[in-house]
Amino acid sequence: MGSGIAEVAAKAGYEVVLRSRKQESADAMVASLEKSLAKQVEKGRLEQAESDAVIARVSATERLADLADCDLVLESVLEDLDVKKSLFNELDRILKDGAIIATNTSTLPVVEMAVETGRPDRVCGVHFFNPAPAMSLVEIVRPITASDDTINEVREFAAKCGKNPVEVADRAGFIVNALLFPYLNNAVRLMENGTASRDDIDTAMKGGCNFPMGPLALLDLVGLDTTVAILDALYDEFRDPNFAAVPVLRRMVAAGQLGRKSGKGFYDYSR
Ligand SMILES: NC(=O)c1ccc[n+]([C@@H]2O[C@H](COP(=O)([O-])OP(=O)(O)OC[C@H]3O[C@@H](n4cnc5c(N)ncnc54)[C@H](O)[C@@H]3O)[C@@H](O)[C@H]2O)c1
Repeated sequence: MGSGIAEVAAKAGYEVVLRSRKQESADAMVASLEKSLAKQVEKGRLEQAESDAVIARVSATERLADLADCDLVLESVLEDLDVKKSLFNELDRILKDGAIIATNTSTLPVVEMAVETGRPDRVCGVHFFNPAPAMSLVEIVRPITASDDTINEVREFAAKCGKNPVEVADRAGFIVNALLFPYLNNAVRLMENGTASRDDIDTAMKGGCNFPMGPLALLDLVGLDTTVAILDALYDEFRDPNFAAVPVLRRMVAAGQLGRKSGKGFYDYSR
């Protein structure tokens, strides 16, 4: 998600600092952003000069301190509350007063990240969808601690990025994932209990509901580790059995079958 969001922001004219824990992975994210822009140039959707200008607005670093002058920091690390909380605590100590710290979490309680900082009024969720350059929606998540100014500023940021922002309260899953993940989880259940095959489930939902992708292909795009983390957070909050991850999902994660990012999930991407 990180490089996709960086691409969107840089295309909108923002100076972007992409930070990862290792310089090589920050550089790899810039390389993936460059690849995405090169494809758009090849297809005639973007001028070479514009692509060069976008790339010039992006820098890569492993040092958190290089974010010190940013007006908005958008965290998009793995979906783990403890990891996010300690990052928010560190960011708060480094960033200038008044900077907004936003999270791209899909489900976790934003207020718990906000209270890790000395600026809970300047913390909120800015939830992009995957792939960020292609998906028009951004969910703006308002924890009870956020100020109206913070919400208005991130709404403006999302709109300047060409996205369609909606506002939602800080409840697990927000709007989209609270509705989407029971559906995805139940698609895995149908496959696992032998009701239908992988291909027939995906074909059915594309042909019968006009969805652009079937649920099992979509799970591979989301990542099965991220999926389990999202379902666990939803289940913790609501205790609804539809959110209890179907066991095979956890087994696939244990086997390293994470979907597209690992080369194998419900489908094989290694060839
Ligand atoms: N995958 C999706 O479809 C999707 C969509 C919207 C939002 N999100 C959210 O975006 C965030 C990132 O998801 P992703 O799919 O890009 O995950 P990913 O696994 O592709 O990337 C996670 C990143 O976090 C880094 N990381 C891992 N452990 C870390 C630690 N201890 N400290 C700092 N960084 C660490 C990894 O190096 C990696 O760069 C999550 O909060 C997720 O819920 C994901």
